[in-house]
Amino acid sequence: MLSGKPKKLRSKLATQKSTLKTETTAARSLRTVGALIREGARRFLRARLAFGHGSVSATEEAAWLTLHALRLPLNAPSAVMSRVIAPAAAERVLRLFEQRIRERKPAAYLTREAWLGDLPFYVDERVIVPRSHIAPLLRDGLAPWVAKRHNVRSVLDLCTGSGCLAILSAHAFPNARIDAADISASALAVARRNLRDHRLSRRIRLVKSDLYSALHGKRYDLILCNPPYVTTSSMRRLPAEYRHEPGIALAGGADGLDVVRRIVLESSAHLRPHGMLVVEVGRGRRRLERMFSKIPFVWAETDAGAAVFLIEREGLPAQETLSSSDARSRRVSCGASSRK
Ligand SMILES: C[S@@+](CC[C@H](N)C(=O)[O-])C[C@H]1O[C@@H](n2cnc3c(N)ncnc32)[C@H](O)[C@@H]1O
Repeated sequence: MLSGKPKKLRSKLATQKSTLKTETTAARSLRTVGALIREGARRFLRARLAFGHGSVSATEEAAWLTLHALRLPLNAPSAVMSRVIAPAAAERVLRLFEQRIRERKPAAYLTREAWLGDLPFYVDERVIVPRSHIAPLLRDGLAPWVAKRHNVRSVLDLCTGSGCLAILSAHAFPNARIDAADISASALAVARRNLRDHRLSRRIRLVKSDLYSALHGKRYDLILCNPPYVTTSSMRRLPAEYRHEPGIALAGGADGLDVVRRIVLESSAHLRPHGMLVVEVGRGRRRLERMFSKIPFVWAETDAGAAVFLIEREGLPAQETLSSSDARSRRVSCGASSRK
């Protein structure tokens, strides 16, 4: 049957056949959920995969894929570890492990689902896998910085991606109407699907906008933003898993602060009196504080250290309507030191 096929294809098919045979044998010997998870973790470590898209270790990643392939809930009780699995189901799990290793895609892109806070979100390669350090702060409605969550009436989630922070905000601030803006139309299509899934299409409005450009001077009680902030040199060293994410969602320019700088300079014109700006900057704290030495940033402790700042409108440089090039030239006058 193979005789008519080119030699390269024949050898590829032969390898696939032998892998399938090995997987079938492996699937027969891996009889429980726990054994499958251990096997996945072993394979992932051997393949030197990178984690950090919703799981922090090979074992967590293997557990996620195993439970997904077996159609078990991610919060299944630990008793499920000893559950005996039919060989066909075990094979399904092993195939997913192999796909994870071959394609180096984060588990969330394979399962099409990521969790943030206590909520699931649809994801695909049009958006980054949700993992914002702002999410845990929303659990308590940004206390103690926001004194009364019921008083928050308007929220903007800038750089919304999948819409995850906008959706978490809707739960954190029950009286708020929310705008969710992104420059990427394809990210907004994912956000739209998540709004529908979470039945929030009426309370959250999606806006295609380069930061504030399409928001026409609207002002908010609260502006949240997880912008792109990876430096150019870090972008070059990112593991393969991160290269499946949209570059526009990660790349923050030479110092990682291209977008953050604009946000700091342009936000006061979009906040109500005593409104609050909350921005994730990853490891950019020192650089940002050097750049805006007079701005009294407050830093929230997160799992990643002081990766999120909060500031009231009154602490921000006063801007009315600035274009981004104006904003750049105002840098020195509002406390930014020249970096060159
Ligand atoms: C780090 S992702 C954050 C997504 C989401 N908020 C989250 O936490 O998972 C950054 C998002 O910013 C968007 N973005 C990049 N530059 C932008 C700009 N100038 N204006 C608006 N959105 C921008 C990207 O399309 C991407 O969806």
